[in-house]
Amino acid sequence: ERKGEISASMMCSDLVNLKETIEIFEQEGVERLHIDVMDGIFVPNFGLGVDYIRGLRSLTGIPLDLHLMIKEPEYKLQWIGIEPTDIVSIHYESSFQVQRVLDWLAPYGCKRFLAINPATPINSLEEVLDYIDGINVLMVNPGFAGQKIVPSTMRKAAKIAELLRREGREDIIMEVDGNITPDNARKLRDVGASIFVAGTSSIFKGDISKYRDNIEELRRAIV
Ligand code: DX5
Ligand code: ZN
Repeated sequence: ERKGEISASMMCSDLVNLKETIEIFEQEGVERLHIDVMDGIFVPNFGLGVDYIRGLRSLTGIPLDLHLMIKEPEYKLQWIGIEPTDIVSIHYESSFQVQRVLDWLAPYGCKRFLAINPATPINSLEEVLDYIDGINVLMVNPGFAGQKIVPSTMRKAAKIAELLRREGREDIIMEVDGNITPDNARKLRDVGASIFVAGTSSIFKGDISKYRDNIEELRRAIV
């Protein structure tokens, strides 16, 4: 079984305490930093951009988990400064040529993930399994922290795991993003998720003095 990993959702962190927050994550062994890149078109919000990504890289060696919530990412990949240690999620719904986007991502040497929104059927995945290392299953409609889980996504995550088994592709990693409480994380762990995006529902709950305990609580849910 694959190790359960925490990907800290940086849109939930406050800039004032960024350095201390990162230090806590390093000490606690947080595996990745989840960066929500938002263009105000694909999702109704603006978010973490190129300067922020560059700044974070100068602060820490923790590998990044770039979640591109942008329309037609194929024309913007070269802006981002993708590193081979990154996970890069592009959205199924963000381009009419998803397979081509995945091809264009390959030369960066990163892990290629396909993100899918709550209402996107799982058969959208079938034709691209050969081009991806992972699937990012959105448990909420992306764009904002602090939302409630879309209930149907629980069952959907289980169905995706089933699909991967059926296709003999259990090497494909399942990430889950949105309202990942310790409780939801435990349920999703049981159906095969191994990367957990941790935001206001878990590690960023309360002020910075709580983060360590929050991380340890989530950790217990995903071992
Ligand atoms: C969506 C985002 C949010 C958020 C996660 O793309 O990734 O889901 O930051 O944190 P929550 O939902 O716990 O506030
Ligand atoms: Zn995200």
